[in-house]
Amino acid sequence: MKFSLAVLDLVGQIWMTLRLGLPHVLRAIYAEPSLIFNWAALSRISFANVWIAFGEGSDVHGREDKTSLITPHARGVVLDLGAGHGYTVPYLDRSKVTKYVALEPNPHMHSHIREKAHAAGFSEADGSLLILSCGAEATASILSSVDTKVDTIISILTLCTVPAPQATLLSLVQDILVPGGEFLFYEHILSHRADVAWWQNFWTPVWVHVFDGCNLNRPTNLWVSDLVDDIGESVWAEGKCLDIDWPEENLFWRKMGRFVKK
Ligand SMILES: C[S@@+](CC[C@H](N)C(=O)[O-])C[C@H]1O[C@@H](n2cnc3c(N)ncnc32)[C@H](O)[C@@H]1O
Repeated sequence: MKFSLAVLDLVGQIWMTLRLGLPHVLRAIYAEPSLIFNWAALSRISFANVWIAFGEGSDVHGREDKTSLITPHARGVVLDLGAGHGYTVPYLDRSKVTKYVALEPNPHMHSHIREKAHAAGFSEADGSLLILSCGAEATASILSSVDTKVDTIISILTLCTVPAPQATLLSLVQDILVPGGEFLFYEHILSHRADVAWWQNFWTPVWVHVFDGCNLNRPTNLWVSDLVDDIGESVWAEGKCLDIDWPEENLFWRKMGRFVKK
């Protein structure tokens, strides 16, 4: 890959992120000066605003793939990891999904989730919508809040951010997903090309601080497909990763997958 392509790609994204997020961060500090010592809070304020622009574009680009991945397969109680501004809920077939559980640790995104969920026919009033503020790694807390195991887990561009992703994945599947339940993902991943992977590794220590914890270099597709239980057996009855039509030189190269639990 040409040096200029990789450098310009990320420099452009970092510039956009700062341009969109910084005014909100400065306003928040002006209103509450003690926030200057709270990087996590500032990062969330920035990201909630940045994702209004980035998320929309990302959703439009992924629409065809997300429709084929989510609409025919999501059913019953659906847990959406890192629901963001609610871009996943419009893909749910309301006649097959009984409850939408949106897991989103950034509270600045909750009003958007609520709005999109209402438009898709889910509401807290009738119990078909639940918004949780914990992270995906807090599996015990998720289970006690939802009060039942779930039929479908969806992760769209979120496993790049989750702490301890492999342990979290195993716990989500073992403890929260019902047998026969489906895990659907659409993620940007570590490239199979050595030159692209080099740049992903190069940029990740910077990008992770700019973009609210996002890692460019996680082989999430392999972590999901190779997931095994305590005795080393696959947790899946069936499943496969699918290619997405995405430029190979892009540092956000992505794959999606559909896996069914044993
Ligand atoms: C790139 S955004 C994707 C949002 C959404 N899935 C979409 O497709 O528009 C990643 C999301 O993961 C959330 N997130 C961050 N840490 C998380 C964690 N530990 N567990 C679950 N979600 C997390 C972020 O707040 C953010 O909304």
